Amino acid sequence: MPETNNAPRIFVLSGAGLSAESGVKTFRDNDGLWETHRVEDVATPEAFARDPQLVHRFYNARRNQLHTVQPNAAHHALARLEAGLDAAGGALVHVTQNVDDLCERAGETRTIHMHGELTRAFCTACDHRFAALQSLSPTTPCPACRTPGGPRPDIVWFGEMPYAMERIEAELMHADRFVSIGTSGAVYPAAGFVSAAKARGIPRLELNMEPSLGTSQFSDARHGPAGQLVPEWVEEILAQL
Ligand code: APR
Repeated sequence: MPETNNAPRIFVLSGAGLSAESGVKTFRDNDGLWETHRVEDVATPEAFARDPQLVHRFYNARRNQLHTVQPNAAHHALARLEAGLDAAGGALVHVTQNVDDLCERAGETRTIHMHGELTRAFCTACDHRFAALQSLSPTTPCPACRTPGGPRPDIVWFGEMPYAMERIEAELMHADRFVSIGTSGAVYPAAGFVSAAKARGIPRLELNMEPSLGTSQFSDARHGPAGQLVPEWVEEILAQL
């Protein structure tokens, strides 16, 4: 594949629909997580202060499920896209709202997890950040300062600032294309990224099971399962390099 300097810089935003076919629950579909849990009980700093045991149980269950699920065809296609664009002098900038590790397990090397990661934790006492592969509880000591109950899931909860926003905003200013995969467009700031892309006049493609809340902001849309749409789209891009 010859080095070409016109290989595109593609900004991909993904959401729970990317991992749905791996068996990871989404949030707002019929059997979604927010059908069985209230956000204010498990996904806010106040919830954690009020009932850390309940919050740890919610994330322990989701973290432990990671051992039972595998990347799907969409994850593998995005890993191929990252490698293909790198080889051609372009770039994939994949910002995900997902907190699972399926992109990395499929071979992606620099996925940006703007809502944090189930496989990580940090200490509320000393801010030590570390890999958390086992269940946490209100008595788990911090590996650094030893404070019992210090560690919390490294998840961005409602009311907290998502990670890497400066980098994300800079990447949106340099992208040649914007692609959204498997997200309802219900939560900001992620739901606003397509508007920034529209303001720059770059092509904006929505790959989702159904039209998202922001579908009118896109210049193109394909609706169906990510496991089918994403590989098809990736093969189109790789064939143009
Ligand atoms: N293929 C493609 N899209 C799918 C599939 C699939 N197999 N299954 C579901 N979808 C789509 C749904 O149609 C929906 O538009 O994925 C989207 C999932 O939407 P949500 O459940 O709202 O998940 P997401 O958009 O990632 O939520 C954003 O909300 O609760 C917070 O922090 C949480 O990161 C999450 C954020």
